[in-house]
Amino acid sequence: MSGYVLAIDQGTTSTRAIVFDDGFRTKGVAQQEFPQHFPHSGWVEHDPEDIWNSVLATVRGALADASLSASDIAAIGITNQRETTVVWDRDTGKAIHNAIVWQDRRTSDVCRRMVSDGVEKEITAKTGLIVDPYFSGTKIAWILDHVDGARQRAEAGKLAFGTVDAFLLFRLTGGRLHATDATNASRTMLFDISANDWDDGLLKLLGVPRAMMPQVRDCDADFGTSDPTLFGVAIPILGMAGDQHAATLGQACFKPGMLKSTYGTGCFAVLNTGAERVASNNRLLTTIAYRIAGKTTFALEGSIFVAGAAVQWLRDGLKLIDKAAITGPMATRADPDQEVYLVPAFTGLGAPWWDAEARGAIFGLSRKTGPDEFARAALEAVCYQTADLLAAMKKDWPAAGDTVLRVDGGMVASDYTMQCLADVLNAPVDRPVVLETTALGAAWLAGQKAGVWPDMEGFAARWRLERQFTPQMDAVTRGRKLSGWADAVKRTLTQR
Ligand code: G3P
Repeated sequence: MSGYVLAIDQGTTSTRAIVFDDGFRTKGVAQQEFPQHFPHSGWVEHDPEDIWNSVLATVRGALADASLSASDIAAIGITNQRETTVVWDRDTGKAIHNAIVWQDRRTSDVCRRMVSDGVEKEITAKTGLIVDPYFSGTKIAWILDHVDGARQRAEAGKLAFGTVDAFLLFRLTGGRLHATDATNASRTMLFDISANDWDDGLLKLLGVPRAMMPQVRDCDADFGTSDPTLFGVAIPILGMAGDQHAATLGQACFKPGMLKSTYGTGCFAVLNTGAERVASNNRLLTTIAYRIAGKTTFALEGSIFVAGAAVQWLRDGLKLIDKAAITGPMATRADPDQEVYLVPAFTGLGAPWWDAEARGAIFGLSRKTGPDEFARAALEAVCYQTADLLAAMKKDWPAAGDTVLRVDGGMVASDYTMQCLADVLNAPVDRPVVLETTALGAAWLAGQKAGVWPDMEGFAARWRLERQFTPQMDAVTRGRKLSGWADAVKRTLTQR
């Protein structure tokens, strides 16, 4: 059998498909952006048909780019933007509402009520999560409450819920399989991460019928085969994980204490805590890092909603730049005497603040402030937010203090940002040779399950460092900058 593995990486703003060879090299790639819908302040939606069409187009594009056909592919691995919620009709496969995206805050009232009703403790004990509109549970309930007749149809088993992975799997298998994996399940606020099952108490609390929930499988499992009418032949689907979990695998963070941070639309730091389920006292999430061959590995996660999205805002919202790559050189030119802080709470603030009502703010503007200072503030905000996450992680799990941060995602191409990160964290930052770690992690799940790629140990041995960034900033400057940031956040929060 060939060693070619296809990864589908369905992200928040674009879909990528990548064919890897058995040396983990990219043989073919295709990427497509798709429209974002913002119907109201704090609301974010995707059209599931746009997502599906982008998957079809990029899979075909990646095969063409690799000069391969579907029969050359040993297996498919799927990875995806997590929490984004799709509800569809089982007979037609059509969604009954736009997908409600993870960033969407429309259910913040419901969440506030749940917290004041005192249910957060039980939810955290079962799911490892805190109560926040970020997760799928309240988004499903919103769709059932706002689409005519949806609740009755869901109760009658006519509707299916899925995060994007499950929706794609349903479509890819021609409607034959309604399943998800343990990592995506762990982001719904409905899944008991110790019992490894949907929790009836939480389903009842949120008013979500069990009949609409997908089966939950390991990350490396038999997820059926693709419908032969789609790509020419049936391809086995053998891997599935939420994108941050796939990146953890792609970075080979297999040992307790290993830490990765991915800088995409948002930024997500995941610390492997092994078989130990560590409870956070500092508003981090306890989540399933991965479940392989029936064995669950846990993680502590810090989730930041806006990282690359701040640069996208400079480009598409403010129109200050025409491409993201120029922000590094602009930041280098920025006036060192101006301390401008951007708190990019466009859709609230995630960990460790969890303030769904907060909105973005900028501090320290003067008549001299220009585009360069805005660019620097956007890049620095990503670094300061990572520092907040790591500080919380060290409190929850002191061993986290000794770890090295492995980074990936689009923003890590910026040397300026990575140096700033090492400076602000006062810790080394490791950038690997392969930056497509999310897709690679999904491909590895499928490739090792298919028996054409190495096991965990063999894969970890192949991880390669491209560059290590070491801290250069003096302690006084670091302290001043971090306290300026802390002050800016304090002024942005709605719950102080
Ligand atoms: O939890 C949301 C996350 O999975 C989205 O990732 O890479 O699209 O920012 P990304």
